[in-house]
Amino acid sequence: MKPILDVLQGRKPSRRPLWMMRQAGRYLPEYRALREKAGSFLQLCYNPEYACEVTLQPLWRYDFDAAILFSDILVVPHAMGLHLEFREGEGPVLDVVSDLPSVQKLELGLEGEYYKKVWETVSRVKSALKPHQTLIGFCGGPWTVASYMIEGGSSKRQNALAVALENPEWFKVLMEKLIASSIGYLLGQIKAGAEVVQIFDSWAGDVPLSARQRVVVEPIAAVVAGVRTVYPDFPVIVFARGVGQGHREIALLTGASAVGVEENVDAGEVFRSLPRHVALQGNLSSDFLLGREDEMLQAVERILSSVPPHRHIFNLGHGIQQQTDPAMVTKFVAAVRKGDA
Ligand code: CP3
Repeated sequence: MKPILDVLQGRKPSRRPLWMMRQAGRYLPEYRALREKAGSFLQLCYNPEYACEVTLQPLWRYDFDAAILFSDILVVPHAMGLHLEFREGEGPVLDVVSDLPSVQKLELGLEGEYYKKVWETVSRVKSALKPHQTLIGFCGGPWTVASYMIEGGSSKRQNALAVALENPEWFKVLMEKLIASSIGYLLGQIKAGAEVVQIFDSWAGDVPLSARQRVVVEPIAAVVAGVRTVYPDFPVIVFARGVGQGHREIALLTGASAVGVEENVDAGEVFRSLPRHVALQGNLSSDFLLGREDEMLQAVERILSSVPPHRHIFNLGHGIQQQTDPAMVTKFVAAVRKGDA
């Protein structure tokens, strides 16, 4: 009935499921129009009526198998009490966390307005989906979210890595609070109707191997376990971006139902390393949607022949880029669907 749930729960799907990270976003003119109307990116995130519409926009154009909640991983630090802004052309700007007092001030945010607005969006989206479409909720991986809190929003990670490796007491407390808030946030999404959750640990690949287990893997595992204390066996996709051959370890140690795999790694090779109950999501480079059609088609073909449909969720290796022509996405979707025939 729902190809994504079938794959995540070990059943044979009616077709190879497909969705795209950042499928709701700036490459769509209808997204840009609604964002303009909302006033800012954050006002869009916290307006359930608009956020629901933006979540559904890509499904009105394309035959995807999932809707992903429209929100952002930085809603978590915002709900925890840090000031957050998205500046045009600059990206996120966040209050900095740098010592024990600044960590102790953080709340879990579970009673506040921000999470409530997101949960309301989830329930609106849920009631608008077709029977074959799955609603995916999400949060960021504790390491990736902590890195934005330590850097104050910038996408650099030098300070955050230095802190993580030095491992002062306040870093541990920060990670514990992030884990607790993320669990509560995901449980609220699930209660509101999310059928799968994805954990986006976009900067997992930056952490040296010697610290990966403590900084990346165990915190994700704690979030997964927290969710499953309330919803046993709940389907979880773990996207630890950039760990390459480490996805097997991620799968084994976090309890993921599927692992998201970045571009620039061989999907077939990663697939063969995974335990039999774990599916693979990914991993077409989003650059192929900016380039020549024949090269895109060949790249799709390579992935289709490397991973079997009952253990694969077709996706990109990272978010779609804003310069992408929506017409190229139509061709991409058709190419994946041709693989079902
Ligand atoms: O996938 C989806 O369609 C769901 C929505 C979603 C967004 N961000 C919307 C968004 C999801 C799942 C995210 C996750 C996210 N946010 C991550 C992890 C995944 C990844 O891309 O690595 C990270 C690191 C963030 C933090 C973030 N959000 C940054 C650094 C920025 C600014 C850079 C940029 O791309 O503009 C954002 C903004 C953001 N989040 C936009 C969207 C659609 C663009 C905002 C706009 O409309 O201007």
